[in-house]
Amino acid sequence: MEWKEDTLRILDQTKLPLTECFLDLKTMADVIEAIQSLRVRGAPAIGVTAAYGMVLAAKSIITSETATFRRQLRGMANSLIAARPTAVNLEWAVECIMEDLQNHPEIPATDIPKRILEHARMIHEDDQQRCKAMAENGQELISDQSRILTHCNTGYLATSGMGTALGVLFAAHARGKVGMVYVDETRPLLQGARLTAWECTKAGMPHTLICDSMAAVLMQEGKVDGVIVGADRIASDGSVANKIGTYGLAVQANYHGIPFHVAAPLSTFDAQLSSGESIPIEGRDASEVHTVMGRLQIGPDETPCWNPAFDVTPPSLISNIITEAGIFNAPFDTQAILEAIEMDRLGKGIFD
Ligand code: MRU
Repeated sequence: MEWKEDTLRILDQTKLPLTECFLDLKTMADVIEAIQSLRVRGAPAIGVTAAYGMVLAAKSIITSETATFRRQLRGMANSLIAARPTAVNLEWAVECIMEDLQNHPEIPATDIPKRILEHARMIHEDDQQRCKAMAENGQELISDQSRILTHCNTGYLATSGMGTALGVLFAAHARGKVGMVYVDETRPLLQGARLTAWECTKAGMPHTLICDSMAAVLMQEGKVDGVIVGADRIASDGSVANKIGTYGLAVQANYHGIPFHVAAPLSTFDAQLSSGESIPIEGRDASEVHTVMGRLQIGPDETPCWNPAFDVTPPSLISNIITEAGIFNAPFDTQAILEAIEMDRLGKGIFD
């Protein structure tokens, strides 16, 4: 993504892998539409997008009366946060910006858009650094010629850097350590088939696409050394919300004695939630299950569908959580997780 001349340019991920088409977002409504329709998606990427959305929101406010300006901005921030409920990075990015403004009541309305733009650029750059550090930290878990299974898309498209789980694999590939990446197609919206396979192809990384239903037998046949996935929200006990199907994979990996790794920046952790039960799970339109990408109908008109976009994997099924600050190993220590979040918020929350 690129910010230029009051416009956020993004690659429209709904068109991949067939068409590489860029889209210019010029209003906060454009940003909300792009997030909700998954033109831009992946927890860190929607956080950065929402940060630039705050710039567009601030620029659209007409009044120069500071209290009114700030009140209107708060309303717009709430609308941005509500665009998608599960990935906490969205709320994290928007609240970082709002907190900075709250800490600086002296900034007049006329200077707020500039201040937010500086902050959005910082969040953008910061996400890239987090990805790099995570990729490095994850290397100790990837042994030579590893055959790793991954789910959904967690690479360049899902972040503003090299990715989370897929970033770890890109770094391993650069060291010649990747034997094979098994890519789950990730129904219903096929982020694995459309996006991860596209990224692996571009990177020249050995990969094989499988249907989600094939993962268990692949493990049974001894072809998987480890599973690595990203996260949309992590509670302080280590419960991980991620793309629907992640929990099933964790159960399968556990049954077969295969390590199950999660890679996520600390901006994906939610210190307010002590367990996974209260993570809000986005329910999406039934048509995503009823059709393949809105094109081919695959079920009878009358058949109802259930479409939760995410699930929660309990900490007992997770071997490690790789972050930019280091690796949490199971069994997870809630106190250590809370301290890491606190350190991160102190370090990154201070804009001055
Ligand atoms: O619905 P999506 O495509 O936004 O879901 C994305 C995922 O679940 C990713 O695994 C998660 O955001 C981690 S991305 C670095």
